[in-house]
Amino acid sequence: MSRISLGASSLGAAMAVLALAAPLSGAAAQQGALDDRQLLGMRLFNQSCRVCHTKPQLASPLYGPELSQKSLDGQEAVMREVISNGTPRMPGFKYHFEPAQIEAIVAYLKTIPAPAAAAIPAR
Ligand code: HEC
Repeated sequence: MSRISLGASSLGAAMAVLALAAPLSGAAAQQGALDDRQLLGMRLFNQSCRVCHTKPQLASPLYGPELSQKSLDGQEAVMREVISNGTPRMPGFKYHFEPAQIEAIVAYLKTIPAPAAAAIPAR
């Protein structure tokens, strides 16, 4: 159960380990109750998706929409599809990530509150 706290320092190795260890996680008490798989997804998201999917200081037309559990009507299968194959304006990640990693990212997206329901972020 202490795997999570080790993760931050050994990210690379932890990714593979976390994917395998995900079923072991019970009620994850850390990081706002994200479980191991969601934490892995968060890390992958921060590495590969943030660049386009979080509000940048400088607006750019290349940036994608803010993502949340409600993206794509909250349909996990469609999320996997978009992440795997991309869209006209977004690269696909099926050769970049293992299926389990894409699953983890979807699991993480499902933890993000929809913008309308969330507090309006301070600019
Ligand atoms: C190069 C910029 C870029 C990167 C990197 C990127 N995206 Fe996207 N993404 C987009 C754009 C732009 C769209 C809007 C769809 C379109 O216009 O083609 C989008 C759309 C999406 C959607 C659909 C959202 C909706 O409501 O329609 C999801 C889900 C998504 N991206 C997830 C991800 C994930 C997960 C990653 C990382 C693995 C990622 N994206 C990386 C640019 C990017």
